[in-house]
Amino acid sequence: KTIISKIESENIDIKEIEKHAKLLKEGNTVIFPTETVYGLGANALDENAVKKIYKAKGRPSDNPLIVHISEEKEVYDLAKNVSEKAKKVMQEFWPGPITIVLNKKDIVPKTTSGGLDTVAIRMPSHKIAQAVIKEAGVPIAAPSANISGRPSPTKEAHVREEMDGRVSGIILGGDCNFGLESTVLDMTEEVPMILRPGSITKEELEKLIGEVNLDPSLEKKEDNKKAKAPGMKYTHYSPNADVYIVSGNSEDVVQKINDLVRQNENNGLKTGVMCLNKNYEKYNGLVISLGETLEEVGSNLFSTLIEMDKNKIDIIYSEEFPVSGVGRAIMNRLLKSAGYKIIKA
Ligand code: TXA
Ligand code: MG
Repeated sequence: KTIISKIESENIDIKEIEKHAKLLKEGNTVIFPTETVYGLGANALDENAVKKIYKAKGRPSDNPLIVHISEEKEVYDLAKNVSEKAKKVMQEFWPGPITIVLNKKDIVPKTTSGGLDTVAIRMPSHKIAQAVIKEAGVPIAAPSANISGRPSPTKEAHVREEMDGRVSGIILGGDCNFGLESTVLDMTEEVPMILRPGSITKEELEKLIGEVNLDPSLEKKEDNKKAKAPGMKYTHYSPNADVYIVSGNSEDVVQKINDLVRQNENNGLKTGVMCLNKNYEKYNGLVISLGETLEEVGSNLFSTLIEMDKNKIDIIYSEEFPVSGVGRAIMNRLLKSAGYKIIKA
């Protein structure tokens, strides 16, 4: 049976944290909130504990996990050849929503690294995540707390509904701020490469460390299988509904989506629309606003996909977003959840 605790991040009950830290120390799995999405954690250095993560998620064993730490110095226990650029990134953006890939030391089991010689490391800023990692006293491997392939949970209700009974502990700590998973930056090469875009953007990174590449496979369906982050190869972020992105100028998109909604409803299909708040009134069907700004869209995207499923929606039409800044991360997730299906308006 899963032990579930509700903890306020502004008033942390250390007794409750200790309960879950103990589960982690004993080799069990615990879900906890981070500033990006909820994570499903276990002791990163204990192979048997890590296997429980793969099992709970139904995750392929060649998809490596991110190791979460609570202090920067732990990096040097886990990784070697840490470059000056990597140090700069850690100093500037940690704690926070960026993960760096480094050459791993032997202490990190291959089960954690998905068989690779590298390890992905992140220091989260969420107070509950920090407290539970610190109290556990070991680095914590934690993928997003969804069943493999589903949208990542960012809200308490979604975590409970999907994961109660599949893990030893769940800490409920409110909504996740960013709502999209961390930027993954490979720092094992001379020119660092973004393997997964997130809310810390290419533009921000380039300001700090100069040239940064973007894994070229990220935005093209044909190249998807070549992705350097194993997790980016799989079908992902998919709700039960069939998702389409409708692209074109704003007026044409509104008209196209409304035509499609009408056709589908006539055929007895339940249709959902995801859009910017300013267009909310223009659509028919079940319309959910993703927010006013790109930051809000990022924060609401996954929870909206899950809400669409709860409403038994068959087909979702989404507006498209600009591929710059956080928009790059939003479009990366949206394209994957749509299986790259785009309709031109
Ligand atoms: O925001 C986040 O990063 C969340 C929270 C819980 O911290 N975690 C998360 O983990 O998104 P996960 O497992 O869902 O995604 C990790 C991604 C996958 O695409 C995986 O393939 C990639 O990072 N990755 C992990 N280790 C890697 C490595 N050594 N080399 C390349 N890619 C790696
Ligand atoms: Mg994930």
